[in-house]
Amino acid sequence: MCGIVGAVAERNISNILLEGLKRLEYRGYDSAGLTIIQDGELHRERQVGKVQELVNAVNKNPSFFDGRIGIAHTRWATHGEPAQCNAHPHVSGKVAVVHNGIVENYAPLKEEMIEKGYSFSSQTDTEVVAHLIADAYSQTNDLLKAVEQVTPRLHGAFALGIVHVDNPNVLITVRLGSPLVIGVGIGENFIASDQLALLPVTNRFMYLEEGDIALITRDSISVFADGQPVSRPIKELDAKQHNADKGEFKHYMLKEIYEQPDAVARTVEMGVDLKGFKPEFLSRHEDRLNEVRHVQILACGTSYHAGIVAKYWFESLTRLPCSVEIASEFRYRDPVVVDHTLMICISQSGETADTLSALRDIQRRSDAKDINGFLSLALCNVPTSSLVRETDIFLPTLAGVEIGVASTKAFTTQLAALMLLVLKIGRVQSRISDDTFSKMVTELNNLSGQLYSCLKLDQSIAEMSDKFEDKKSTLFLGRGIQFPIALEGALKLKEISYIHAEGYAAGELKHGPLALVDKDMPIVVLAPKDSMLDKLKANMQEVHARHGELFVFAGETTQIESDERQHVIHVPDVYELLAPIVYSVPVQLLSYHVAVMRGTDVDQPRNLAKSVTVE
Ligand code: AGP
Repeated sequence: MCGIVGAVAERNISNILLEGLKRLEYRGYDSAGLTIIQDGELHRERQVGKVQELVNAVNKNPSFFDGRIGIAHTRWATHGEPAQCNAHPHVSGKVAVVHNGIVENYAPLKEEMIEKGYSFSSQTDTEVVAHLIADAYSQTNDLLKAVEQVTPRLHGAFALGIVHVDNPNVLITVRLGSPLVIGVGIGENFIASDQLALLPVTNRFMYLEEGDIALITRDSISVFADGQPVSRPIKELDAKQHNADKGEFKHYMLKEIYEQPDAVARTVEMGVDLKGFKPEFLSRHEDRLNEVRHVQILACGTSYHAGIVAKYWFESLTRLPCSVEIASEFRYRDPVVVDHTLMICISQSGETADTLSALRDIQRRSDAKDINGFLSLALCNVPTSSLVRETDIFLPTLAGVEIGVASTKAFTTQLAALMLLVLKIGRVQSRISDDTFSKMVTELNNLSGQLYSCLKLDQSIAEMSDKFEDKKSTLFLGRGIQFPIALEGALKLKEISYIHAEGYAAGELKHGPLALVDKDMPIVVLAPKDSMLDKLKANMQEVHARHGELFVFAGETTQIESDERQHVIHVPDVYELLAPIVYSVPVQLLSYHVAVMRGTDVDQPRNLAKSVTVE
């Protein structure tokens, strides 16, 4: 989604802005732009395409962009196609604005501004904000006051960066529903949609609350909530946790796939060691977890798939009923939420608009006493995110920063953390026996080694991926607890290779998708040695009988072997309940190699964004 960077300093900030935009590229975008104030004028450049196009354009005339204050933006089109006229910053007279999010009531505001004589050169909702601020400034002659007047008129979720030619040492920012962080420097300050953008210039950050407006100069940061000054703490980041370097890997996605054994080990170690739970793990919340009678999981995309795996775990290990739903559906269907529900919101970014809105709706109902004993938990990779701030309990995934749009290590660490949570609730409520618990702890401690073993399959999987290069469509099949991994495999393949893929519960084949099977249809099967294996083998026979070509990730002792129409890669045998974590790796590697072969933009697939901050 759109990315914002801004700076006010005593040095030329154009390279800081451009580097910041490059670091936000992972969020997904289709055009980029920047505005710098120089000698009492706004100097603006905007380009459709990659940030590098913008860099090239700026480099043609670097002295024109040599300024001490400016704002920059990567745009992911919502209102109006990707075009130079729609790229940000948007300018009205002496005001320039960058914006992330959506102004839902822009249409009537636009009409109002047209009636006042303002003209529009874009189809965006953002341009109206620039005109509104310029108009308010013409009456107040005070940029902060102008922004404070305009903000309540804007409906929706957004973050803004604003500069004005007559205020060459003032950068104003607004956070209302979209992420925005202030980078604190020495004699210089910055804003960005994600702290990653600013790591080359600072490791100290101030996280704004929803509704905050900040007035930032070179050496001061003043934050206001409802017009009153407020103080927000400054936090220092550990640079190692936020290493965003590709290293020796060709793509971030591959690097992140390879980081999984360590990331999962870190996440497991957060909760257990060889003896059992660490004393500090969720200990503060035990009383409230003891009261939980129903689990409701909300998430989108890959995080939703993690939620489906957790449903299997919750119900089989704790016998607590668990529902999982896509957040964008849940929020619009007036759902029943029973008393003593634990709502688990799973999100890598913690900024996914649908997940946040669904949570907020239910939180409001709980505040109004419509639900008793409601408890919310964020399972999230970004401790400073909105989701974490707005939930009762934060359970971190210790994946480290994930740059590739295709989620990999965030997914497997979500699974590891979810298993810890299932065990914690099960033990607190005495629903899990000592034996089961100690078996699970042993298996969790083995997990990292099993993931390492899976990575050794990389070369064989790369060779297998040849067969997918010219395919138009594929099916992923799994049964039981591997069904969500089939969904995840299909999502991974489609999002980065652009091959149509569907994930199916293998038992559903004969209820529809079998009609698609012919000799040209590759079918990927997840076949660990588990309680569903015989059933799955029967489903594989159904495919054989229709001359389908099978690509099987099979447990070593499943006795599934390669033949003319069946290509088998053996995966080390693994404990059934944790097999979804291990079998994620081969499907990630397969998607990766197919995408590389097809020459797609693996880390930033077309039309997608890492952090989906609009609904
Ligand atoms: C995963 O590969 C996707 N990029 C996408 O489905 C993602 O999981 C989804 O947008 C949810 O994001 P979140 O985890 O940040 O909420």
